[in-house]
Amino acid sequence: MRKKFLVFSKPEITKDDIISASKVLKSGWVGTGPIVKEFEKKFASFKNINQSNVIALNSCTSALTLALKALNFEPNSEIITTPMTFCSTINSIVNARLKPVFVDINIETRNIDVDKIEEKITKKTKALLIVHFAGLPCEMDKIMSIVKKYKLKLIEDCAHAIESEFNGKKTGTFGDFSCFSFYATKNLTTGGEGGILISKKKKDSSYCRNLSLHGMSKDAWNRFNKKGFFHYDVVYSGFKFNLTDLSASIGIGGLSRIEKNLSKRQIICKFYSDNLKKLPLILPNFFYEKKIKHAHHLYNILISKKSKINRDQLAEKLNQFNIGIGIHYRSIGEFSFYKNKYNLAKNKYPVSELVGSTNISLPLSASMTKYDMISVVKAIKKIFHE
Ligand SMILES: Cc1ncc(COP(=O)(O)O)c(C=O)c1O
Repeated sequence: MRKKFLVFSKPEITKDDIISASKVLKSGWVGTGPIVKEFEKKFASFKNINQSNVIALNSCTSALTLALKALNFEPNSEIITTPMTFCSTINSIVNARLKPVFVDINIETRNIDVDKIEEKITKKTKALLIVHFAGLPCEMDKIMSIVKKYKLKLIEDCAHAIESEFNGKKTGTFGDFSCFSFYATKNLTTGGEGGILISKKKKDSSYCRNLSLHGMSKDAWNRFNKKGFFHYDVVYSGFKFNLTDLSASIGIGGLSRIEKNLSKRQIICKFYSDNLKKLPLILPNFFYEKKIKHAHHLYNILISKKSKINRDQLAEKLNQFNIGIGIHYRSIGEFSFYKNKYNLAKNKYPVSELVGSTNISLPLSASMTKYDMISVVKAIKKIFHE
């Protein structure tokens, strides 16, 4: 058994990242400034879009909040989304005083079932908020034709899908707004917390940029670097959602290694798939089709009905083997807040409920060693053969 606990998704932070972060610490400016601008520029170029449409923020949750604020829908407007996501996706809808309308997922892709979306569209439907689950892009051809047909707005939650593409088009470039996470476990981290909002329209971007820093007309860095004294104005009641130069310095390093790290993630996923296929597990289908680029954010397996142990028992046993896991996710109706508020009775979203009660994500990170990969496989085999 391993001596050291294997963190589920240990961030890959290099010596160079530490040097970059110390430079910022020694520079006398650790807040939002030139390094954030540089990070935005590099991310924009990674996505082949204009820099002015990219705003670095302190989280994906902040990006989702700004997107819905900018869309300014009437209270109780309906937003169609997935019941298989992190609570933050749904909280952003609830906190904007809007109503989430759930569409069950597809069992193979774990993404929203595009064939079930139209039956949920009403006069109150204003937007689709989609999640590219585990890094597999949603079926964007079908999504875009629904959005067009019903004149809906589209928000992409790209927390899992930094590197993903559909038909050669990058995730985050389809939506009116797209939200990325650089949280500690994500394919790219800014050192713990961070995010980016991409807006399709320039005017949305400049509105959201103001909102992200209290609604101030100029950010602090611009003020302090201008010659002469001037007052800032407050033009909106905004938020405190800005990213810092310290965080951005770590993000810049990670972004330069993102494709290399994706190759490492692919190798780990293939190793798991090759070595676990004889066990009573349903392994992910990575859809190696030409039109898909998968970000391999999660290696999310389902425990088959034939298994002698259930998901929670497997999680417990892996923990005893010093192996950290993730659950992505329990179906949204399992959480008391949403269950009570939206009357989410059992069997309302059967596919999501099945996945929610049987899934487990195995450790996956570009920082994993060969020993880490082997120890995970060995532990699982031992658990199933006991
Ligand atoms: C699908 C999804 N959406 C939103 C978020 C929220 O991201 P953040 O923690 O950066 O706010 C996460 C984070 O785990 C996520 O996985």
